[in-house]
Amino acid sequence: MTVLVSGGAGYIGSHTTKSLIKHGFDPIILDNFSSGKKQLVPQGTSQIIEKDLKDKKGILEIFQKHEIKAVLHFASLIQVGESYTDPHQYYSANLINSLNLLEAMLKTEVKYFIFSSSAAVYGTPNQIPISESHSVNPVNPYGRTKLMIEEILKDYQRAYGLQFVSLRYFNAAGADPDTELGEMHDPETHLIPNVLLSLLDRNRKLEIFGTDFPTKDGTAIRDYIHVTDLAEAHVLALKYLKKHHQSEFINLGTNQGYSVKEILTRTEHTTGKKVPYTEKPRRKGDVAVLVASHAKAQDLLGWELNYSDIDIILQTAWSWHKKTANA
Ligand code: UFG
Repeated sequence: MTVLVSGGAGYIGSHTTKSLIKHGFDPIILDNFSSGKKQLVPQGTSQIIEKDLKDKKGILEIFQKHEIKAVLHFASLIQVGESYTDPHQYYSANLINSLNLLEAMLKTEVKYFIFSSSAAVYGTPNQIPISESHSVNPVNPYGRTKLMIEEILKDYQRAYGLQFVSLRYFNAAGADPDTELGEMHDPETHLIPNVLLSLLDRNRKLEIFGTDFPTKDGTAIRDYIHVTDLAEAHVLALKYLKKHHQSEFINLGTNQGYSVKEILTRTEHTTGKKVPYTEKPRRKGDVAVLVASHAKAQDLLGWELNYSDIDIILQTAWSWHKKTANA
């Protein structure tokens, strides 16, 4: 089965491409390489198309040329802070480009769509762990773009019979256990790579954003999910759609949270190195606690967590960053 993976040369897209190949799918990567990396195209990928989702005509041609049966849509801007300062860029890249992709799907009658959504759609939670029935109220433009696409998907399902699974990621982390793939953002804003890179590069100092959250040690709590487990969930979601033809919103997390300071302690345990840091004010839009209930992913998809133990997350990420730092 041929599937199109937009953003397949990015962090989560590349790991999912690898899982798709492992499970016998034929993924075509579509990436404009604005943040995706050639280095992150997994071995065995049969086709890579370099194109921007702005290019409506070019996108339609891809669907006319290939027997695409499903789309996994990862391509997106992901920085919450930047989404405040340049919302237009976010609405263009995340919303308009998604519409272009959906339009090409409608025109060529491709029915299955797996969407990279985010825990950001929930905003400030009033209950932990967060289940899919929790109210949605994003607190930043990035989260709003994700929620708007989810609403569009519901309408397209009703009107055109589009079938989708919207996967709401909590904090993707870790790296491919084979060390072929890993996280490579520029600039890097995420906690775990920033902690590890601060140990590899003396010019990078770790900053802890916010020590006055209402949590046990004052730092924010997140639900870190291994990217390989996340990737496998996409394959399961695709199989679910093919079998049940039922659209769903599904959280991908671990049911467990770690504070920033706990991540530092676990990192010191994994690497044997002390992590120096400075304390800074909170980042705009950061909430105190985000932890998923993953019951639905387990019950509906039969999803299993094989790598999401925090020490495995840190070990695999550490191997990857050491490898790329020495490359
Ligand atoms: N943090 C630091 N120092 C850093 C980086 C992060 O203290 O150098 C803190 C943050 O303030 C936050 C926590 O570590 O409290 C986790 O931050 P990340 O940037 O790693 O992740 P976020 O929870 O902010 O963001 C993630 C995704 C976003 C998504 C969001 C909510 O990266 O795309 O979850 O779903 F919007």
